[in-house]
Amino acid sequence: MYQISPSILSADFMNLERDIHNIEENGSDMIHVDVMDGLFVPNITVGFPVIQALRKITDLPLDVHLMIDRPGRYVAKFVASGADYVTIHAEADTLENNLEALQTIRALGAKAGVSLKPGTPAEAVLPYLPYCDIILLMTVEPGFGGQKFMAEVMPKLKQIRAWLDEAGSDCLLSVDGGVDRSTAPLCKKNGATVLVAGTAYFKDPKRADFVKFIQE
Ligand code: DX5
Ligand code: ZN
Repeated sequence: MYQISPSILSADFMNLERDIHNIEENGSDMIHVDVMDGLFVPNITVGFPVIQALRKITDLPLDVHLMIDRPGRYVAKFVASGADYVTIHAEADTLENNLEALQTIRALGAKAGVSLKPGTPAEAVLPYLPYCDIILLMTVEPGFGGQKFMAEVMPKLKQIRAWLDEAGSDCLLSVDGGVDRSTAPLCKKNGATVLVAGTAYFKDPKRADFVKFIQE
């Protein structure tokens, strides 16, 4: 009923192939890849070569979360590298440029997404709704794994869930940051359909069980 997208930000990069196969074997629905540029967020992670490499070793959808400034410059290359979902941040460029980026992603055959930082109001998502297949709400400040879940984002999640339901939209609604066994039920209750988990997934001694817990 719910989908889990483990974030490889918490994977062992020395053993990334092993960890990808582990994500598959444990029954996960997709793989969340956090791309950071050191400008939009104060951290730098991975880019095209890693996504191209992942594409070669897995058939699971690659859920690519771009925490980069003016993402429209690069979305086509992320799709070409093998991303299935390309999610950009509403705060990363003007509305006009972001809408163009989302249309480019779809035109190239991938799923388009928009993400909101914790402090960005729910209303900011409205102009994007006709152009996106996934909405990703940050429940931590983007940039790092292992941060504390911000429950104050839940009213925004609930509001966006209501708008999607009113519109009869099948847009996925994802939550990212601090999702674990204690916070996941809150996300589900407020309308999330996809749960991203980095630290909680990789630290869990019973990962397959964690995946089932999130999915049911
Ligand atoms: C944070 C990233 C998240 C991060 C989540 O900026 O977008 O995807 O990996 O990590 P945890 O689950 O550890 O909060
Ligand atoms: Zn993320």
